[in-house]
Amino acid sequence: VQAGHLAITPTELAKHNKLSDAWLSIRGRVFNITAYLPFHPGGPEELMRGAGKDATSLFEEVHPWVNYESILQKCFVGHLVPLSPSKD
Ligand code: HEM
Repeated sequence: VQAGHLAITPTELAKHNKLSDAWLSIRGRVFNITAYLPFHPGGPEELMRGAGKDATSLFEEVHPWVNYESILQKCFVGHLVPLSPSKD
């Protein structure tokens, strides 16, 4: 499967919840935020609150104006898909 076109389940997403390996999802798109952690203006700890999760509501609560799609353009991993027995 070509990188950037992966279908990622919530179970797979949840595995990436460490400072050394952190993914999060916003509006159905999954990003590898590991490289961005040191640059996040709110600090790595704040950004890690969304790690391994669908962080859409958290993101919207804090700063809906931030253009995450642009910032994380090169960090795109794939699309979040619903958990189903056939996929997981
Ligand atoms: C600022 C939290 C995700 C980009 C902040 C601040 C907090 C925060 C508390 C305010 C820092 C301050 O003013 O002292 C969070 C949380 C996230 C998250 C809990 C979990 C989902 C992201 C993502 C991006 C991002 C995914 C971009 C890829 C920024 C930017 C600012 C900022 C650009 C500065 C915004 C401004 O001042 O208008 N964040 N953040 N954050 N964050 Fe996040």
